[in-house]
Amino acid sequence: MAEEEEVMKLGAYCAAVRLVEDAASEILLLWALNDPTARRHNFFVRHADVTLPIDSCGRHLSILQSPSSMSTPGVTGAVMWDSGVVLGKFLEHAVDSGKLSLKGKKVVELGSGCGLVGCIAALLGGDVILTDLPDRLKLLRRNVESNLGGGGVRGNADVKELTWGDELDSEFIDPLPDFVLGSDVIYSESAVMDLLSTITQLCGGNTTIFLAGELRNDVVLNYFLEAAMEEFTIGCVDQTQWHPDYRSHRVALFILVKKITKLAPQDLDNISDRKKSEEIN
Ligand SMILES: C[S@@+](CC[C@H](N)C(=O)[O-])C[C@H]1O[C@@H](n2cnc3c(N)ncnc32)[C@H](O)[C@@H]1O
Repeated sequence: MAEEEEVMKLGAYCAAVRLVEDAASEILLLWALNDPTARRHNFFVRHADVTLPIDSCGRHLSILQSPSSMSTPGVTGAVMWDSGVVLGKFLEHAVDSGKLSLKGKKVVELGSGCGLVGCIAALLGGDVILTDLPDRLKLLRRNVESNLGGGGVRGNADVKELTWGDELDSEFIDPLPDFVLGSDVIYSESAVMDLLSTITQLCGGNTTIFLAGELRNDVVLNYFLEAAMEEFTIGCVDQTQWHPDYRSHRVALFILVKKITKLAPQDLDNISDRKKSEEIN
């Protein structure tokens, strides 16, 4: 990392990340560093295959895909995307290297698609709600059942409908999640504000958000970062911190936490309660 870059620890992730200073510079930096257009698409996932085999958390996972559904207009989650594989394996690596703990934590995944990320989060001990649009839940449920059924899973996984921009049911926000996850969910300009509205509703002072994005469309990513920076402090997790076998120049990994000035009074109470209990212990 260059010397002038500001790095800091954000949220519950115990390693320094590079702070995103402004959206346009971040886009320039990411595209200059990674040259994503010169890289191969879908490096980790074959979209023509009906299963994605992948080992994680000491298990062999087999994620069902539905390549034929991808010809339906608007359907994007019927196959896994590289950023999902990167995020899932990053979580595993971060837990294994002691930088993150999901054990017993409430985790909400947005736009789960085929569900690999949420399944890995549950294997890592999270209490996970995997979510997507109503007509995407059948394949997602099948993947959760076939990969996490049969016992031996440290956490839990539940599948629920969640359409971005809608007012959220209490099960999502009471209590607020410790973690929000999303991979390849920033791809359509028309969905950015709805996605942000959902993230904002889900995020309190103790929530850490991990978003893995494909470096596909600089305009959409710029729009998202610019809007998100109003409410959130954003860091970019360097590839050296990802799983060594799952690094990609077509993917960026961001971590977001709510800006302290934007915290609601109950969030501030939570933080001061936490500080008091840390002092006592
Ligand atoms: C490109 S796919 C990524 C799927 C998965 N996260 C992955 O990495 O493979 C985008 C996902 O977001 C979901 N999605 C798109 N618009 C949505 C919305 N308005 N509300 C909820 N989910 C949405 C899609 O159904 C799809 O599963």
